[in-house]
Amino acid sequence: MFPETRMRRLRQTETLRELVAETSLERRQLVWPVFVVSGSKRREEIPSLPGVFHFSPDMLLEEAKKVADRGVKTLLLFGVPLQEKKDELGTFALSEEGPVQQALMLLKKHLPHLTLFTDVCLCAYTSHGHCGVLSEDGQVLNDESLELLASMALSHAEAGATGVSPSDMMDGRIAAIRNKLDANGFVDTLVMSYAAKYASSFYGPFRDAAHSTPSCGDRKTYQMNPANSREALREMQLDVQEGADILMVKPGLPYLDIIAKARKTFDLPIAAYHVSGEYAMVKAAAEKKWIDERAAMLESLMSLKRAGADIIITYYAPYF
Ligand code: PBG
Repeated sequence: MFPETRMRRLRQTETLRELVAETSLERRQLVWPVFVVSGSKRREEIPSLPGVFHFSPDMLLEEAKKVADRGVKTLLLFGVPLQEKKDELGTFALSEEGPVQQALMLLKKHLPHLTLFTDVCLCAYTSHGHCGVLSEDGQVLNDESLELLASMALSHAEAGATGVSPSDMMDGRIAAIRNKLDANGFVDTLVMSYAAKYASSFYGPFRDAAHSTPSCGDRKTYQMNPANSREALREMQLDVQEGADILMVKPGLPYLDIIAKARKTFDLPIAAYHVSGEYAMVKAAAEKKWIDERAAMLESLMSLKRAGADIIITYYAPYF
């Protein structure tokens, strides 16, 4: 007890504080999410996400080389197809002409040491912006969406993806994807599941960037209710049984309790996605000089680690 016990003794100097730090964060644990568009020589900043760009495959190759030289060697690729390529089923998601497939082929060829994950979801490819197939009366159909998602995953594997990352939240998609990959010989392609993905308002800037806002309704019939945490464990348990290699919790900071529970319950690697809205909030406050951007970034990412994440997906990855 005080005065014999003094907690401040361990905080006296920087060296001492570093010596007893319980958590640390390294670039090898970061994943850089990138938005890929078709064409060439394109590097366009996204208004709602300053410091984040739409890259054509050739420009992504240039940037990825620089970022990898700094120690961030894992990417998560999102495709942003032209409006005219979208249809009811999102079939362009399966095309080897798609921006993600094109970027994978290029990156795989020139930077084979990179780890390349791809987002598997139909929302950027469907004309209605939902993550699955729609019925005539506007319901998102689960089972009908699985084959498309599995085929999308396969086309990414064929183009060179190290792993696929399904974010659609359809039931049974992990098994459907695993089976499809295995049946086609891609037994080593990883599945990083967006296992506990919440219907969150923090995805707003992403939907601007990916042009994937649903044209009607919302995603609450497939993404999770923010009020629930036991349900997250059920989602994760199912994904483990279906063959996921990595479990993701998303968003990050509002769901630290879910990350901590996931860490306690499962032995698989846990990823946390520091999503677009979390990034944009820090950026916006920093622009107004209301917050120290670098300190806020480090604290945010460290908190995700402290809660139990092994892997952190963040738009700050190139700037860390
Ligand atoms: C696609 C998808 C979304 C995000 C990742 N994959 C958006 C959504 O579900 O509407 C969000 C990522 C972010 O906000 O940074 N379904």
